[in-house]
Amino acid sequence: MSESAVTKEKRRTELKARIWLSPPHLSGREKELVEEAFASNWVAPLGPHVDAFERELCTYTGAGYAAALSSGTAALHLALILCGVERGHEVICQSFTFAASANPIVYQGATPVFVDSEPDTWNMCPHLLEEAIKDRLSRGRQVKAVVAVHLYGMPAKTEDILNVCRKYDIPLIEDAAEALGSRRHGKACGTQGRFGVLSFNGNKIITTSGGGALLSEDEAAIQKARFLATQARDPAPHYEHSHIGYNYRMSNVLAAIGRGQLETLEDKIRARRAHFERYRRFFEDVEGVKFQPEVEGNFSNRWLTCILVDAGCCGFDREMLRLAMEAENIECRPLWKPMHLQPVFRDAPRYGGSVSERLFRDGLCLPSGSGLTEEEWERIEETLGQVVHKSRNA
Ligand SMILES: Cc1ncc(COP(=O)(O)O)c(C=O)c1O
Repeated sequence: MSESAVTKEKRRTELKARIWLSPPHLSGREKELVEEAFASNWVAPLGPHVDAFERELCTYTGAGYAAALSSGTAALHLALILCGVERGHEVICQSFTFAASANPIVYQGATPVFVDSEPDTWNMCPHLLEEAIKDRLSRGRQVKAVVAVHLYGMPAKTEDILNVCRKYDIPLIEDAAEALGSRRHGKACGTQGRFGVLSFNGNKIITTSGGGALLSEDEAAIQKARFLATQARDPAPHYEHSHIGYNYRMSNVLAAIGRGQLETLEDKIRARRAHFERYRRFFEDVEGVKFQPEVEGNFSNRWLTCILVDAGCCGFDREMLRLAMEAENIECRPLWKPMHLQPVFRDAPRYGGSVSERLFRDGLCLPSGSGLTEEEWERIEETLGQVVHKSRNA
């Protein structure tokens, strides 16, 4: 291409608005509720929207109690503290996940032990979990908690993981950051372990711009979480502290956004599942492209539609797809790089690894926002179609 053709091509791409993987989608009463918070001067931390958001999260998920917090990471951190995780302890964590599932283990001075996924759900393998627990205990280690993740909205085999946890009397923390609205055998993700964690980060199925929640059946534990999240202030007219605290609470303004978002959650799930179905139909005739399976008993919110590309079969690999999309200003991302491959966790013990390594090698997340327009869909299908047809004609 001549220089001017390159410049023209660059300009053409720049003119096209970026299609994001999962942008925020405000579609309901968010503004009205935020204005109400302003009108009542409840812009300070806490307030009536926070209380209402917590109640509504419980009603929606069936959880007993909820604490609205500043992020999903804060919720994970508090869950670990409430499970008694301290320096010298170990916590078993799914390797195939985002770093936020594992980082709070290190905040506590404990060691993460990574366990691989199973091919069925792409989440923690219950058999490998038991193998890891047995081995850690036989080495005299104190395993204080298990963090299992419902990745991309797909429920893990929670009952099997819970059975293993119960056998060894280790609490389960469900990282349901990506899985609000997903269910396994009718039970909401995040409600079966001792603690469940939700995220309302900007890219999640509903957002408060930034935020999270801790769920539990244990009322005292949620009260303690609220106490720790507001700088652990003991009851006294002056400031009195007998614990180390955190500034982890959600503000009333952000809770107002969350309430508006929650009202439209079912529409958002419907939209994301419809996107999944459209991608599935698109790739139906392409041998070598597979999707994250939704096994018997699972209902996924399909937060992100993820594919695996078998390059040997397809004649293209996931990177060719990603780069073609990027050239058209369409965001796609490889699946999570497993934690046991991350430089920062290179010394952490791990059990298995080949399943998540393959998912990382071949996997791609496709644009899945609930607000995707028909025009955007046409750009996506055209770009994907070009790669598929090129490989067929090669
Ligand atoms: C699996 C997983 N766990 C934890 C988090 C952390 O949530 P937050 O960004 O709200 O801290 C995220 C998302 O960011 C996530 O995807």
